[in-house]
Parts: sequence; C-alpha cells; structure tokens
Amino acid sequence: MAKKAKRKQNTPRMPRKRPLKPITVAFSHLKGGVGKTTAAINVSNCFARMGYKTLLVDMDPQSSSSEMFLDQNQPEKTLYHVLYEEVPLAEVTQNISDNLYLAPASIDMAMLENRLRERVDGYHMLQIALEKNDYDCVIIDTPPSIGVLTSNALIASSHLVIPVQVGYFALKGIENIMQTYQTIRQRANPKLSLLGVLITMIDDRLTFARDIKGDVSDLFGDIMFKTVIHRSVRLEESPAYRKNIFDHAPRSRGSEEFIQLTQEIIERCRNSSPTHS
Ligand SMILES: Nc1ncnc2c1ncn2[C@@H]1O[C@H](COP(=O)(O)OP(=O)(O)OP(=O)(O)O)[C@@H](O)[C@H]1O
Ligand SMILES: [Mg+2]
Repeated sequence: MAKKAKRKQNTPRMPRKRPLKPITVAFSHLKGGVGKTTAAINVSNCFARMGYKTLLVDMDPQSSSSEMFLDQNQPEKTLYHVLYEEVPLAEVTQNISDNLYLAPASIDMAMLENRLRERVDGYHMLQIALEKNDYDCVIIDTPPSIGVLTSNALIASSHLVIPVQVGYFALKGIENIMQTYQTIRQRANPKLSLLGVLITMIDDRLTFARDIKGDVSDLFGDIMFKTVIHRSVRLEESPAYRKNIFDHAPRSRGSEEFIQLTQEIIERCRNSSPTHS
C-alpha cells in the first residue's frame, strides 16, 4: 500500500490523450539561453507520456537535447548524415522511452551552415526527411541563430513557439525572430503558424520582471501563452541529472507548468490556422 502511494507521488498526473492532427513544432529564438532546449525536452516528454508518438529533433550542433538522453559516445549517425548525405531519418532515430524518439545532433552539423547553403534544396532537407513520418508530434529544438539549420527547422514545421526569457534584455531579439518567421511564411512555408510566445524563467518576486512581462503582454496580446514557466531550481538542476522534470521532480511547479503548457499547445494546435501575416 505504502509502495503504491509512493509510486503515485512520484508520477505526475498526465492529462488524457485527445485527437490531434500530426504537428511539427519548432522552439526557436535567435537569442541564446532563453529556455528553448528545456522547453523542447519537457514538452516532448509530456506529449510522449500522454500517449502521443513523439519525435524530438535536435537541430542544434551544441547537441544539448541529445546529451540529455545519450551517453558520452557520439552516435554513429546523426542528423548531419540525414541533412547532408540524405540518410533516412529512421536510420539515426533512437527510441528513448515509451512513445519518445530522438533524432540526435552532432557538433559537425555546424559545418552544414555553409555546406547546405550551396545546395538548391539545402534549406528543405529536414522537411524532405520528415515527409511521410508516422509521428503524432515532432518537436524541434533549434540553435540560437538564424542560419540554414534554423531555416530548415522553420520550413519543416507547422507551428512555432518563441520562448522569451524575462530579463533586462528580454525584448531584444524578438523583432529578429518575428521577421524571420514572416519571411519564412511568405517565401517558403505558408503553413507555418505562430503558436505563441512563451515566457520562461520568470521570477515573480522581481518588480522589473513583472514590468517586462507586462511589456511582452502589451506587445503580443493573445499570442502569449497563458502558461508561464517560472525560474526554478528543479528545472535548472534537472539537466545535470540528465532527467526531464517529470522524472526529476514530478510534483514540482515546473512539472505542473510544463503539463499545462503542453495542454495549451494542444488546444492552440486544434484551433490554429496561420493568421499572423
Ligand atoms: N525555468 C527555469 N528555471 C531555472 N533555470 C532554467 C529554467 N529554464 C532553463 N533553465 C536553465 O537555463 C539555462 C539555459 O536554458 P536552455 O538550455 O533551455 O536554453 P536555450 O535557449 O536552449 O540555450 P541555447 O540557446 O544555448 O541553446 C540552462 O542551464 C537551463 O538549465
Ligand atoms: Mg538549446
């Protein structure tokens, strides 16, 4: 009985799976350290736990998402081979846990910024690789720059989430990613829809954080997710344990916020059409 109670305490309550058309969601911002990887890891985990067959695509040569799941040994084949040598995605994809799969990155993907630019289809390689996949949900973690890799991610996506860290430089860089979003929509992927701007790492105790949150709300209105991710020690330390928040601190505020965010993503995807032109 006690064992059962303990297990219950260590398992976050996951909402029920609901019907959802297949989605591909990129987490992107040209600014570094805003919580893209943290969101991509925990949201993909949440989707998988809810029962959706989920693929996490790590498009960042820094490989932070991949390192969370893989041991020190570099996988033999990574997205580098998919994007440059047209190796089928299934050949590099690894099963991480129930319903969760990873397409790993490697540092040599940094070379693709030049190599793919020289090819006619260089900006479409991820889109081509993801054609006819059987995942319910593909989550893409992107590098903190606008280049060929981020463009590939946005061209392959149905939806975009922009994480914004509320801090002194919070609003810097948003204009750039918004501009990139508009350009990609107009020139390459009219189906791309801005799902929302996500406030991350907010500390409600700080007055200036509240002020900036207000500024972001004024600027984006309904585009802002109702869910915000608060700064938390549990979220900060979870990568050190190589754990997602649901395993690391199942009953923490961070765990609850990522479940809430995933539900909001599902809700928005169910209602969404690209309207922000
Ligand atoms: N809500 C949070 N509370 C506290 N720390 C956090 C939170 N979210 C992320 N962090 C920490 O902040 C750092 C940056 O987060 P993360 O790696 O997710 O950002 P990123 O946008 O992916 O960075 P990069 O642009 O370098 O890829 C990490 O050390 C992470 O553990
Ligand atoms: Mg990252």
